[in-house]
Amino acid sequence: MKTTVSIIKADVGGYPGHSTVHPEIMKKAEDELAIAKKQGGINDYFVGRCGDDLELIMSHNTGVDNKAVHKLAWDTFVSCTEIAKRLKLYGAGQDLLADTFSGNVKGMGPGSAEIEFEERRSEPLICFLMDKTEPGAFNLPVFRMFADPFNTAGLVIDKGLHHGFTFEVYDVMDNKKVTLNTPEEVYDLLALIGGKSRYVIKRVYPRKGSPVSEKEPVACVSTDKLSKIAGTYVGKDDPVAMVRCQSGLPAMGEVLEPWSFPHLVSGWMRGSHNGPIMPVAMEDANPTRFDGPPRVVALGFQVCEGMLGRPVDLFRDKAFDNARKKALYVADYMRQHGPFEPHRLPSEDMEYTTLPAVLDKLKARFSSMD
Ligand code: F6R
Ligand code: MG
Ligand code: MG
Repeated sequence: MKTTVSIIKADVGGYPGHSTVHPEIMKKAEDELAIAKKQGGINDYFVGRCGDDLELIMSHNTGVDNKAVHKLAWDTFVSCTEIAKRLKLYGAGQDLLADTFSGNVKGMGPGSAEIEFEERRSEPLICFLMDKTEPGAFNLPVFRMFADPFNTAGLVIDKGLHHGFTFEVYDVMDNKKVTLNTPEEVYDLLALIGGKSRYVIKRVYPRKGSPVSEKEPVACVSTDKLSKIAGTYVGKDDPVAMVRCQSGLPAMGEVLEPWSFPHLVSGWMRGSHNGPIMPVAMEDANPTRFDGPPRVVALGFQVCEGMLGRPVDLFRDKAFDNARKKALYVADYMRQHGPFEPHRLPSEDMEYTTLPAVLDKLKARFSSMD
């Protein structure tokens, strides 16, 4: 029987502002998923958070896009929103953009990343949770994990990884997708995914010859475009991802290595600024300074017979202290630009923020220069 792991997430209200999830919300989500587990709707679950995003991590045997699992997540977000409203939490129900559930959370506000797989002899899996940024923030680290031999030693010295990987890339502006194979199409892949606000890595697959099935994804990123769905700016599409590791795939340490470099991502204050992504333990995922800097949490699971068990909070490791220090240094440097690019996002990326309304106000004051 195949196992499915689903992360379904939403911001149902922040506490205070957009910084964290209220303990009562966490408790409610726990209670709802405990009931579902008891009733057999899911095998196992873990309720996590990153900043103001509530993260439901669930294992089950019903495949991706399963209506009952998505409805469970939706209903949980709805009951958590009731608490958020009662406590007047900030932006209560922010990510629930539809009135009624329509079969799948896609296009309704929440984000999701799911993989169905035949459990290998041992199945280490890492769930990554981000706040104050967008799905393209995963492009650089996921590329490094699966295609950069300077990051992943296995690409060079493990025969099992020599076949390379297939990247499925979404063009989120044009609603199109393309698959590219590494290593031979590395340059083409980078030509696309370097433009991270438009081209985002959705899934990665092993290739023929790999000891891991080429039919099942080994990485999956949530790519739902909240700004486009909502029409106006309602917060960045804070993404999640999951990555399977070891035995013909990048080792856990190779999947974590890219995060030693706190690369610049877009998001941060008002979803309108570039800043470093800081790897932190879940308890430290509280973006406060200028509503940031953006955070990433890594929860490591050892999936067993459809069960998740308790995760290890991987970025709690002191080995990531230097990355955090560097992130704080870069945060200081970027902040000194104030309202200037490249701290503020380039104009085309500001389209979905509150800036156009301000520019509209000035339109009538312009006259010809000639
Ligand atoms: C970023 C984010 C926050 C808000 C900011 C303003 O994704 O959610 O930085 O954009 O706090 O929030 P409002 O407009 O609700 O006052
Ligand atoms: Mg929020
Ligand atoms: Mg958020």
